[in-house]
Amino acid sequence: MSGADRLTRRALLVGVGAAGGAGAMFAAMGALGLAPQEQRAQYTPPRPSDFRLTGRAAAKVLVLGAGVAGLTCAYELGKAGYDCTVLEAGDRIGGRNLTLRGGDRLTETSGATQTVEFGEGVYFNAGAARIAQWMVTLDYCRELGVPIETFVNNNASAYVYNHGMPAPVRARTARADLYGHISELLAKATHAGALDRRLTGEDRERLMAFLRRFGDIGGELSYTGSPRRGYATDPGLGPGTPLAPPGGLAEVLAAGVGRAVTMDFGYDQAAPMFQPVGGMDAIVAALAREIGPGRIRTGTAVTKITNLPDGVEVIHHAGTERADYCVAALPPHVLAKIPGNLGAAVVSALATPRPVSAGKIGLEYGRRWWEQDDRIYGGITETDLDITHIWYPSYGYHAARGLVVGYYATDEHARTYGGLSHRDRLRRALTQGKKIHGEKYRSELVSAVSIDWDRRPHIGGGWMRWPEHSEGLALLRRPADRVYFAGDWLTHLVAWQAGAMESARAVVTDLHRRVLSAPV
Ligand code: ALA
Repeated sequence: MSGADRLTRRALLVGVGAAGGAGAMFAAMGALGLAPQEQRAQYTPPRPSDFRLTGRAAAKVLVLGAGVAGLTCAYELGKAGYDCTVLEAGDRIGGRNLTLRGGDRLTETSGATQTVEFGEGVYFNAGAARIAQWMVTLDYCRELGVPIETFVNNNASAYVYNHGMPAPVRARTARADLYGHISELLAKATHAGALDRRLTGEDRERLMAFLRRFGDIGGELSYTGSPRRGYATDPGLGPGTPLAPPGGLAEVLAAGVGRAVTMDFGYDQAAPMFQPVGGMDAIVAALAREIGPGRIRTGTAVTKITNLPDGVEVIHHAGTERADYCVAALPPHVLAKIPGNLGAAVVSALATPRPVSAGKIGLEYGRRWWEQDDRIYGGITETDLDITHIWYPSYGYHAARGLVVGYYATDEHARTYGGLSHRDRLRRALTQGKKIHGEKYRSELVSAVSIDWDRRPHIGGGWMRWPEHSEGLALLRRPADRVYFAGDWLTHLVAWQAGAMESARAVVTDLHRRVLSAPV
């Protein structure tokens, strides 16, 4: 969901709350399809004992799609003894939770196939790759016994490089210069009385004290550099060799490094973030283990979904299944094209959010030059080149080999790379990355794999984007008769596994309530 949409909804709710009190606000939330999930009500998993004395029994459920939403549904329903079968169109499970290792094969919708040649211990999280502390994903890691480790999202030693800069600068240097110059500007304006109408004398003093610290500006209120910027040679026995002095305000602003400085300001990006040890697909493997063998069937692409008076019928490539209920956890634009009787309004709502392009390339190196030469241990270099980011690995420190993500691009840049053959994606990514890291970026490469999510069979996109003010969201949060919908695209956590999991929990809660209250 776009930030603008989120703001619009929030602003509306705040407005309603102010005018009509909490009752009116919750009523409006219901109308928008936001309650009760938005209130983060405690989730209670269904239990076998829920059926005691009710005269009812756990139902048979077909889950379509073995991505994180589908697997979470089957896992949660399984806790109460529901008879779940997960039908997965592809040949592997996990959806956009995809970890690639040596020996894996990656086929695109065009038929182009890559074989992964990474060495022992090297893996590439080609889809989901980081988890914020507040996300329910970590609760599943805890519950399923999936060990986690820190994902370094922000590293002051990583670089910022934009067009026109003579050389990359360290993120810490960019940050020191931006904070320094902004502090100087604001401190001088405050000192000169430009803000006197807004500030009391006490406010002014506090603000000045903060700005001195924030920007490391001296008594003259001028930013002339700071040890925070780092050194040309590091301090040790000697004091270190300073970097060349900072450019002026205009120069620093023109370099456009602000995006790199603010990249982890967002609630979903703030450090520390986490990843499962050994690859993101540890979550998928643990869910599959709990769901149980034989309940997940790959190679079963769904071709028809029909609500019947007393159940659901699903036709797929390997046969026909009937169940009491169905949870469709496929991408909405894929679901919209599957024939059946979901109804015109539902199909139109499913076709409303559009896929966002996203792609990555994993570059395996025979030497961890980013640690040895650049002293970068995890983290992300930000650039306005079309590669957008370079990610350094947050695992395997000091190992012989390692994997750098050479681009993580979205929208038009993802389409630029996605439209090329793998060889050309690689060539282009290396040419760009060399501008930041020099010749070793090309010469020390051992192997590479690229993914274009638009071309990923049965998925066809990185994540979904809803237009502003779509009523489809509320409609699809309700079942279409006996068919429920689940996915991150139904939440305010689009493009996060946590969204898939929250959506799954909401569906499981609704479905279980319905089964418990169905006529006997
Ligand atoms: N969740 C996606 C990411 O971490 C958008 O980049």
